[in-house]
Amino acid sequence: THVVTEACVRCKYTDCVDVCPVDCFREGPNFLAIDPDECIDCAVCIPECPVNAILPEEDVPADQQVYIQLNADLAKSWPSITKRKSPLPDAEEWKDRKNKLSEIVR
Ligand code: F3S
Repeated sequence: THVVTEACVRCKYTDCVDVCPVDCFREGPNFLAIDPDECIDCAVCIPECPVNAILPEEDVPADQQVYIQLNADLAKSWPSITKRKSPLPDAEEWKDRKNKLSEIVR
C-alpha cells in the first residue's frame, strides 16, 4: 500500500485525490488517509502532492512508521474524498513543520 505521512497534517492540499483510479483516499478534518484495502500501489498520487507526503509503505522512514497503521485505522472511519478542494488556510505555514502527529484531528 501507499501511506500518507506527516507532511500532509494541517495542510491537506488534496491534489492526490483527483488522480487516484480506485478512490482510496479518506478525508479527516486536517489530514488524509489511504485505505490500504483499496490502494493498488499504482503510485500516480506520489508526484501530485506538493509536499511529498505520500510514500510507498516500504519507503516510510523510521520516525514515521506509526503512519502506516494510522492510515489503516483512520480510513475505517473517515469518508471518501475524490475531488480536489482548497488546502487548509494555514497550509503554507504548516507544510515544513515536523512532529505533527499530535495535531491530527479525528
Ligand atoms: Fe495531503 Fe499531499 Fe494529498 S498534502 S491531501 S497527501 S496532496
